[in-house]
Amino acid sequence: MVRPIQNIARRRVWTRGMLLALLLAAGGCRQDMRDQPKLKPLAANRFFADGAASRPLVEHSVARGHLTLDTPWFTGKENGQFVTNLPVAVDMALLQRGQERFGIYCTPCHGRAGTGEGMVVQRGYFPPRSYHDAQLRGQPVGYYFDVITRGFGNMPDYAAQVPVEDRWAIVAYIRTLQLSQYADIAALPEEDRAPLLAPPAVAPVETTADASNHGHHE
Ligand code: HEC
Repeated sequence: MVRPIQNIARRRVWTRGMLLALLLAAGGCRQDMRDQPKLKPLAANRFFADGAASRPLVEHSVARGHLTLDTPWFTGKENGQFVTNLPVAVDMALLQRGQERFGIYCTPCHGRAGTGEGMVVQRGYFPPRSYHDAQLRGQPVGYYFDVITRGFGNMPDYAAQVPVEDRWAIVAYIRTLQLSQYADIAALPEEDRAPLLAPPAVAPVETTADASNHGHHE
């Protein structure tokens, strides 16, 4: 038996029509996230006997990880004064962490050496003063922690991006940067001081042979 060609064509049209109708119907089915069954915090609700949507804490529950009693650690201040000593042991790992975080969060404006010539500043952002500025070098560590935590003038705060522990690592690294430019020679042990004070063992001499050679190449 041979099916007439028109029958097949008609069936195809019918199938397509059904599919289209289904698609259109399905398009109407949606549940927005905002329509979820939920209770808003501290709203009134008649479901519970006390009429409150928020449920009281289970008796004897203990908050964990939100106690910020260690003021110097969380604010960089003690009795309203900036702390002068890092509240964390300084080791290589801390400095490397600080260097890494500083590279991510601070160099765009302050530059890798902290001179205040980061790329964002080169493109027109308000230029911060150099970390090697005499007044800034004299600021206690707590001051730096405070600037990261609460911002300063034109600088936004980085409290949301940089956790407390990393802020101290960054502060330790800023001190390292400052030391790299302004180390007090008296702070060095004797054996390191002597070679620095001694005249250079080999004076950089440019011989006449070198000079003529140089000219020859030009
Ligand atoms: C978007 C650019 C930008 C970034 C990123 C930035 N700063 Fe700043 N910072 C500034 C500017 C601008 C100033 C100067 C603000 C002013 O004087 O009004 C400043 C000032 C400072 C000062 C000096 C305050 C003073 O007494 O002059 C310190 C310290 C500082 N920033 C630390 C940091 C650290 C640490 C980071 C990284 C966690 C950081 N900044 C990230 C722009 C930035």
